Amino acid sequence: MNYQTIFITGAASGLGRALALALSGPGRHLYLADCNATGLEATRAGCHEKGATARTTCLDVTDQEAMTRWCTQDADRAIDLLLACAGVTGGVDALDKEQAAFESPEQIRRMMAVNLDGALNAILPVMERMRSQPLQKSGRLSRHRGQICAIASVAGLVSYPGTPSYSASKAALDRFLVASGAYSRRAGIHLSSVCCSFVATPMVAQNRFPMPGLMNVEDATAHILRGLVRRKRRIICPSWLVLGSRFMDVLPIRLAEFYYTRQPTGRPGSMPGVDTPGCKDQPEQASRT
Ligand SMILES: NC(=O)c1ccc[n+]([C@@H]2O[C@H](COP(=O)([O-])OP(=O)(O)OC[C@H]3O[C@@H](n4cnc5c(N)ncnc54)[C@H](OP(=O)(O)O)[C@@H]3O)[C@@H](O)[C@H]2O)c1
Repeated sequence: MNYQTIFITGAASGLGRALALALSGPGRHLYLADCNATGLEATRAGCHEKGATARTTCLDVTDQEAMTRWCTQDADRAIDLLLACAGVTGGVDALDKEQAAFESPEQIRRMMAVNLDGALNAILPVMERMRSQPLQKSGRLSRHRGQICAIASVAGLVSYPGTPSYSASKAALDRFLVASGAYSRRAGIHLSSVCCSFVATPMVAQNRFPMPGLMNVEDATAHILRGLVRRKRRIICPSWLVLGSRFMDVLPIRLAEFYYTRQPTGRPGSMPGVDTPGCKDQPEQASRT
């Protein structure tokens, strides 16, 4: 796939950084955003080393105006690919004396704001921009204006009691992309949602439970890129966990809960909470090339 101009959020770490590095090479132009200025700088240096040009912008993806500015920069250039990777995770607090567990309202709102609204803050302006880009024609892949991909999660395919707002934010993101893709592909705008299990990135480094299907970041990146080349609407990995999740979701809710609440994965108090209000490196900092 001829990706020349690539926009990536969450590019300072984990999957966003790994995708940026994997896509870097001579003739590639990367626009990298994240709220972690130090991590962004390290990604930029890695991309340059591989021969790409990379421009970084330190921002919070929940800042809609800053995101629109970021997505609309260098408007004379066609965007080939957007990767919306910025995200946060967190679970319910430890069980209280009544054996109940909750997420704080701040965490729930932050999760929705970053994982759902933050992704939309990239997807919507880029989709608008792609609609005015010329159609590229290349053999079998004739209708093509650009590709948009966001990292959802297998967690979005189930109602997991340990991570309710994470599951909900990723479910909404996944549904939006998969459903919108049906008609947007007719305009040559191809949408993909990534539903992967655990990937060994800083996001999960402090999880205190065995992580089913844990993949290293290089394998996950290669899998995502293969899915993008095939324009898969939903890129899943590993498939056995996705199938298992699908099965769990058709069970009666109480039965699924009975199983989930007895698993060590994501039990109350086993994941660090989301930092609220969130990004430390604020406000939006000037772009760096
Ligand atoms: N790792 C997994 O097991 C896994 C599985 C399924 C899906 N995912 C999804 O994959 C995506 C990438 O996650 P990852 O594992 O690569 O995590 P990561 O290593 O923590 O990378 C996420 C990046 O997003 C940044 N970020 C968070 N909130 C932001 C905001 N409001 N504005 C701008 N940047 C923000 C983070 O900055 P800070 O570090 O400063 O917060 C970090 O640099 C996420 O959407 C995640 O939900 C991950």
